[in-house]
Amino acid sequence: MGTKGKIIKCKAAVAWEAGKPLCIEEVEVAPPKAHEIRIRIIATALCHTDAHVINPKFKEAFFPVIPGHEGAGIVESIGPGVTNVKPGDKVIPLYTPQCRKCKFCLSPLTNICEKLSQVKHPIADQELMEDKTSRFTCKGKPIYHFMGISTFSQYTVVSDINLAKIDDDANLERVCLIGCGFSTGYGAAINTAKVTPGSTCAIFGLGGVGLSAVMGCKIAGASRIIAIDINSEKFTKAKALGATDCLNPRDLDKPIQEVIIELTNGGVDFALDCAGGPETMKATLDCTTVGWGSCTFIGVAPGDNGLNISPETLIMGRTINGSYFGGWKSIDSVPKLVTDYKNKKFDLDALVTHTLPFDKINEAFDLMNQGKSIRTILIF
Ligand code: APR
Ligand code: ZN
Repeated sequence: MGTKGKIIKCKAAVAWEAGKPLCIEEVEVAPPKAHEIRIRIIATALCHTDAHVINPKFKEAFFPVIPGHEGAGIVESIGPGVTNVKPGDKVIPLYTPQCRKCKFCLSPLTNICEKLSQVKHPIADQELMEDKTSRFTCKGKPIYHFMGISTFSQYTVVSDINLAKIDDDANLERVCLIGCGFSTGYGAAINTAKVTPGSTCAIFGLGGVGLSAVMGCKIAGASRIIAIDINSEKFTKAKALGATDCLNPRDLDKPIQEVIIELTNGGVDFALDCAGGPETMKATLDCTTVGWGSCTFIGVAPGDNGLNISPETLIMGRTINGSYFGGWKSIDSVPKLVTDYKNKKFDLDALVTHTLPFDKINEAFDLMNQGKSIRTILIF
C-alpha cells in the first residue's frame, strides 16, 4: 500500500506563535499538485534564520508555520507535470528557486529568481504553494510553509523549481548543510567576493556560515584569513579550517577595525560579515583597504535598521556587495556541490557539532542560541 495520492500523517515542528518553543505535532501533508513534489525529509539542520523567524522582533513572519530550510530527503511522490525527479531520488529542497525563465535566471549576473518572494510578491506568497493554499494542516488549521520548503516536517511539499536532484550515494546527514549554511558562506567568498590568491581576508562571525566562508577563502588561496567572533570558543575550529589570526573584539582595547587595519598595513582586500547587525557591518566595511577593499554582507539580524555610510568610504575605492545563498544558481549548482563534497574538496563534517533525534529540536535551538553548536543535525 503506497502513500501516493493520499494524505500522509507525520511528525513536524510547528511554531504556533512568535517567541514560543516549537511544538512537535502530528500534521497532515496533502499530496503534491501539478509541478509539486512530496519529499520524505531524512535529515535537517537548523540555521539562525529559523530562530529569527520565531523571534518577536522579526516582522515578516506568518503563524502558524513549519520552519526549517536546511534539509535533505527522498522523493515520495510527484504531481502532474514534474519531469526533473522521480520517486526514490535523493534531493535537497532549495529556498532559492531557479525557474530558468525570468530575467534574473536568464542572466549570468545573479542567482536571484523572480519566484523568490522578496523580489516582487508579498512574503506571504512564498509561505504558501503557487495556488495560494497550504499542503499542511494540523488540528484542523492550515499551517504556513516556510521559505517554500519547511524542512522541520517528516514529509514536506515543494515546487519543482525548489529542489535539486543529487547523487544516489550522497550522505543526507551531511549534504543537508549544502541547502543553506555551507553554500551561503562558501559561495559568498568564492562567487560574490571572488577572493583572489594571495589576498588578505577578514571574516566576522564564525557560525556555520562564517566557518564556510573561511573554507572558501582558504580554497581561493588567500594568504591571510583573520577570523573574528565575540565567542572565543569558535577559534579552534576556525584555525583548523584555515584562519591565520583569530580576534575577539571584546578582548581588545580599541575598535576591531583599527586593529585589523594595523595588522594588515592599511586594511584587508576582502571582508565578509557573517554575523549581521549594524555594528559588525560597519566594522566589516571599515576594515577594508582604500583603493580596492571589497566588503560583502551576508548576515541579517532581526530588527536591523541598516547602516550609515559616508560617501568618502566608497569614493576611496571600496565596494559593497550583498550575497544571497552564496550567489549559487541553485538547481545548477547544488548537485555539483554535493559531488565536490564527495570528492573531499571541502569538509562538511567540521561544521557538525551535534546530532540529535528530531524530537529534541528545542534542545538544538538552545545549543544554537547559547553559542554551543555550529550545526546540529536532526534525524527523523
Ligand atoms: N562580532 C563578531 N561576531 C559576532 C558578533 C559580533 N558583534 N555578534 C555575533 N557574532 C558571532 C556569534 O558569536 C556566532 O558565532 O556570529 C556567529 C553567528 O553564528 P550563528 O549564530 O551560528 O549563525 P549562522 O548560522 O552562521 O548564520 C550567520 O547569517 O543567515 C544569517 O541570520 C543569520 O546572522 C546570521 C548569519
Ligand atoms: Zn539559512
